[in-house]
Amino acid sequence: MNHAVSFFDRQFAHQVARADYALNPFEQRVLPFLAGDVLDLGCGLGNLALAAAQQGCRVTACDGSTTGIARLQAEAVARDLAVDARCVDLNNECPAGSYDAAVSIGLLMFFARPRAEAMLHALMASAKPGGIAAVNVLIEGTTYLDMFDPNGYTLFAADELERSFAAWRILDAKRDGFDAPGGTRKEFSTVIARRPQ
Ligand SMILES: C[S@@+](CC[C@H](N)C(=O)[O-])C[C@H]1O[C@@H](n2cnc3c(N)ncnc32)[C@H](O)[C@@H]1O
Repeated sequence: MNHAVSFFDRQFAHQVARADYALNPFEQRVLPFLAGDVLDLGCGLGNLALAAAQQGCRVTACDGSTTGIARLQAEAVARDLAVDARCVDLNNECPAGSYDAAVSIGLLMFFARPRAEAMLHALMASAKPGGIAAVNVLIEGTTYLDMFDPNGYTLFAADELERSFAAWRILDAKRDGFDAPGGTRKEFSTVIARRPQ
């Protein structure tokens, strides 16, 4: 397990112990846009995947956290939801396919820049024409770095997602900033966009 996945695997184990499964604000923002076949890359504990499946989506969800994927698989079976949850190291593989909605919340910054850019392009390519992509990343100005592998991470430029989706119809774009431990900051960019037909 790499540094970032170990960091989140520990955090998810604490959340499972507390049954803390609330959607985060980014997941809440994306959920109303999801329909049909959905890809959730870096699904974490699977809260968004389960909520999407609950509203009728067929979800393919991937993450490197064994704790996150085990919880998602167990909950999907218990609730008889259409979720295919896979434990994968996204440094080495990226599931291909064609989806009505391709989502990646809080994932792409955990890769060195060439891999982060390749994954963003792969995610965009996996949205069907007329489908949507929803991406959330940490951007420059972020000073909370504990969760990163020092050898491989990317803080995106503030307007980089908007520029990447310039040929798409942007449905929602927002920057958010939050205080983090030790007087540091997390700065986020989120874009939800529709691919041209
Ligand atoms: C900030 S969490 C986001 C989780 C979820 N999308 C959410 O919004 O709560 C980042 C996720 O990326 C996953 N991750 C980081 N690097 C990864 C890698 N190389 N392969 C697979 N998953 C990875 C972590 O396991 C973690 O679940």
